[in-house]
Amino acid sequence: MGSFNIKSLESYFKIYRKSVRNPKKFWDTIADENFTWYQKWDEVVEYNMQEAQFTWFKNAKLNITKNCIDRHLAKRGDQTAIIFEPNNPEEEAKHITYKELYAEVSKLANVLRDQGIKKGDRVCIYLPMIPELAYTVLACARIGAIHSVVFAGFSSVALATRIDDSSCKMLVTADGGYRGNKTIDLKGIADEALEKCPSIEKVLVVKRTNEAIKMKEGRDLWLKPLTEKAIPNNVAEIMDAEDPLFILYTSGSTGKPKGMLHTTAGYMVYTAYTFKNIFNYKNNDIFWCTADIGWITGHSYILYGPLLNGATTVLFEGIPSYPNHSRFWEVIEKHRINQFYTAPTAIRALAKESIDFVQRFPLESLKVIGSVGEPINEEAWHWYNDHVGGKRCPLVDTWWQTETGGIMISAIPFVTPTKPTYASLPLPGIQPVLMDELRNEIEGNQTTGSLCIKYPWPAIARTIWGDHQRYKETYFSTFPGKYFTGDGALRDEVGYYRITGRVDDVIIVSGHNLGTAPIEDIINEHPAVAESAIVGYPHDIKGNALYGYIILKETGLSRDKSNLAKEINQLIADQIGPIAKLDKIQFVPGLPKTRSGKIMRRILRKIAEGDFSNFGDISTLLNPEIVEEIKNERL
Ligand code: WT7
Repeated sequence: MGSFNIKSLESYFKIYRKSVRNPKKFWDTIADENFTWYQKWDEVVEYNMQEAQFTWFKNAKLNITKNCIDRHLAKRGDQTAIIFEPNNPEEEAKHITYKELYAEVSKLANVLRDQGIKKGDRVCIYLPMIPELAYTVLACARIGAIHSVVFAGFSSVALATRIDDSSCKMLVTADGGYRGNKTIDLKGIADEALEKCPSIEKVLVVKRTNEAIKMKEGRDLWLKPLTEKAIPNNVAEIMDAEDPLFILYTSGSTGKPKGMLHTTAGYMVYTAYTFKNIFNYKNNDIFWCTADIGWITGHSYILYGPLLNGATTVLFEGIPSYPNHSRFWEVIEKHRINQFYTAPTAIRALAKESIDFVQRFPLESLKVIGSVGEPINEEAWHWYNDHVGGKRCPLVDTWWQTETGGIMISAIPFVTPTKPTYASLPLPGIQPVLMDELRNEIEGNQTTGSLCIKYPWPAIARTIWGDHQRYKETYFSTFPGKYFTGDGALRDEVGYYRITGRVDDVIIVSGHNLGTAPIEDIINEHPAVAESAIVGYPHDIKGNALYGYIILKETGLSRDKSNLAKEINQLIADQIGPIAKLDKIQFVPGLPKTRSGKIMRRILRKIAEGDFSNFGDISTLLNPEIVEEIKNERL
């Protein structure tokens, strides 16, 4: 494990330098010493950044679930792998040992095979945060099926788009799901989606809420009777290093969602390595990441990263505000959590509530706290650091993306000194660069630019499912030869990175990526709408909220505006999900446009923010007078 653990700042710099000088040797050692392989690789990496082609651990053979489960059985078969903490605190938590996990995953893998799922088939998973979600993900990986988890908060249209895009053969869902004091009719939503999904042959249904639901003859099967009959042993499929492991959809600034494809060996090596170091995980620690498995954070740091390290990981079904705002802190005490990983939006929401909710709990078990998903502002950083970390736990601000598979820039606890709002230094093997507007690399410190990565890492996404051209164009063409993250960043005097936010038309609302164009397309479908433009503006809790400027058609002008606004938001909720609703809708007579017809979003952003100080030169606009009109009617 020599190269696996980073123990001091000095050794970080030493390892980092080595990883840049000889990346192949660096990853070769890590992959060689820490995993179980059927067969090792012929070459560590082959790549072409122009063509966006990456082969890591060429010709190696493995199964990721052998590494997540089987190899731990001898030493820690009776140790808890997963703690399931239900939505309702009255319901008993479940402790699932590695042995039990092995049996459950094996049974489900056998069920999937019996139902006709083969290596390479796509299985869509639309489940709440319950143990069956973990079992299904791992069972897919066990038999070489490609899992595509869709967050259970997405609407039926969003689910259908995702199922259809990767022509999934099977859907695994539940009768319903709990979320705070609400019940979500997952099966009803799924049924609606499936009307438009001819590729789905079978639907497996988990019983969670016991609501009455419809089961379609010949298509739908309850999962439990099938797993009860299944054998609790399964011979894992032998996978090639580059065989697909999963697809996970993320929003783009335009067009339909992008199905990011991750493959087997590189993703395994990278998530295991980053988990171990970034959370300073030690044997018998209890790790809790509050994300949903529907997002990459849950894939990499609830399931794969922790299980690859033989860790105990918490699967939490609930939300931070139910039954009250102490829920997170209660769960930390109850399970004696050692590492806690959550999002700035949750921190900001909890910091708004009475301080008693957190102060009642000593939280002494905590050793490391983490943040992910969006920039963490200074106020939230200090609140988290003081009241949760007790000023004694290092706070790791981890920057990464669905596309990167694992954490890229982060402090390493007890190694890197932290600095509020700075993600700090790149992980070994990661080579970030800042680029200027002329597409040149900016050397030196105390500078800002577009954040790119100039050398591949094992967990880089391999393509967008079914559209390699789009993958190339989105990530590898803006700065030829480099991976472009879409984020802007600042590098301080010692080389620490601070992520300043998106530089494209993606807006991060409560940690969720939302593209402006796809939302505008939906709004424009409303019969009363002529045109629309969405921008983000700062919001106390969500980080950013959406502000929509909407031009109505002649026929819409006489309609009641608040009803129209409601209809428009309902349309968005139906097509994407409630997370994409607009906080403010301003009906406007026109939008500021350049002579070539491009909307000047910069001005709309300033108005939404309430900053009227400097619109820049607006004389070149086609319709400069509109700026004043919009400004005067600002909400
Ligand atoms: C975008 C990626 C990575 C898992 C969750 C989000 C933003 C993420 C940070 C951070 C500032 C951050 C970036 C990035 N982001 N972490 N620590 N500081 N910004 O994954 O949905 O693919 O979103 O989230 O803008 O590009 P994602």
